[in-house]
Amino acid sequence: MGYDILSKIIEFTDSEEPLEKRLEDAAGLLADSFAFDQCAIYLLNTEKSKLNLSVVVGNKQGCQQEYKAGEGLSGLAMKQGKPIIITHSRPNKELWRGVYDKGALGFTTIICAPVKDDIFYGILYLKNREKKTIPPKKRRLLDVITLQLATAIKNYECIIHLTDANKKMQDMQARLVHAEKLLALGEMAATLAHEIRNPLMSIGGFAKRLHQQLGPDSSHTVYVQRIVKEVERLERLMDGIVHFSEKDGYELSQEDINSIMDEVIQFFEDEFKRNGIYVAKTLSPDMPMVEVDRQQVKLAFNNLLANAIQAMGGGGILILQTRQEGGWIVAEVSDTGGGIDPKIMGNIFNPFYTTKASGTGLGLAITHSIITNHKGIIEVNNNIGVGVTFTIKLPGAAKAGSNQRAIGG
Ligand SMILES: Nc1ncnc2c1ncn2[C@@H]1O[C@H](COP(=O)(O)OP(=O)(O)OP(=O)(O)O)[C@@H](O)[C@H]1O
Ligand SMILES: [Mg+2]
Repeated sequence: MGYDILSKIIEFTDSEEPLEKRLEDAAGLLADSFAFDQCAIYLLNTEKSKLNLSVVVGNKQGCQQEYKAGEGLSGLAMKQGKPIIITHSRPNKELWRGVYDKGALGFTTIICAPVKDDIFYGILYLKNREKKTIPPKKRRLLDVITLQLATAIKNYECIIHLTDANKKMQDMQARLVHAEKLLALGEMAATLAHEIRNPLMSIGGFAKRLHQQLGPDSSHTVYVQRIVKEVERLERLMDGIVHFSEKDGYELSQEDINSIMDEVIQFFEDEFKRNGIYVAKTLSPDMPMVEVDRQQVKLAFNNLLANAIQAMGGGGILILQTRQEGGWIVAEVSDTGGGIDPKIMGNIFNPFYTTKASGTGLGLAITHSIITNHKGIIEVNNNIGVGVTFTIKLPGAAKAGSNQRAIGG
């Protein structure tokens, strides 16, 4: 009989089913073959130091949803590291040798066994209303069964970790391929932009001259105005492309991030007033210096602030923060512009992606490129219906020392 149960338990716990289904099948088999009224399995939540009910089969009377670490018979079995077997409990009492367990009320025979190998995973909790004897053979079988349950849980956790790691690796690979494509695209675009800039300037210059000569009454003025505006837009686009692909020639110096932020705020002061934007800044007073190209980092923040202002056309609050976090110098830009449609979130850093009529779609691509060139990180927290927070993390002095080489090449 023992061998039959064990082989069935192995079959259930090694199946391809989700862990909960496997444990449910095992608990059902144990309740049947031990002829117990209730069989529950609790799993340890290490973060919360709690045992959470995973499955329960049979009569569900008094089955608690969770046990705190050390609470009840489960807590005692966890602490002792070996099964508690009670065959003479009085059904109207919740106390057993000073251990209070509400879940034991109404049961006479109880097995509370830790599911563990060298690690503790949870508790197997069997209860029966009638008195039962548990012969030594069954006790030994119980030990093997709990060990098998532990092995199944361990394997499951390993697979979850492996799948997770594999997914992360695939994501990273996809991002690398994407970055390579962007690099190639950027180089090509930069060459084109240099070629286009000069003739574009001539077109713009002549169009402006034509505009002056035609005067406001000419029927052609509206067309020439259109040419002038479109040329200006193209010039901004070309400037953006050149900036985007600029990697060499960064001039690093020790800079105060707060003073960069102040300068950027000053630059947009008129815009804030015009758009009814209130600026709340909490710049940490004791920020260490950071080794950056001041102009580039200013440009990175300019782009973030420009987007925030455009998103808050009808007024809002712009929150600017600086702080230290681990080895990072952190600067945050939050707006109340309603956030970004989740459907486009995956595109916002792509060059030329824009939802604006006159946007070039290069603002965030440039910011991203500047920050990564400084070995920094840019993160977005999108609060749909409220606003967006862009978090820039730049390496502190110790990390920044190695940047010069990275930026140069
Ligand atoms: N703070 C923000 N709030 C809402 N949407 C934003 C915000 N920042 C960026 N976006 C979205 O991301 C898109 C890409 O931004 P990005 O700055 O790269 O280009 P752009 O602002 O459209 O054009 P440009 O920067 O050339 O004016 C925007 O068109 C907008 O849809
Ligand atoms: Mg922008």
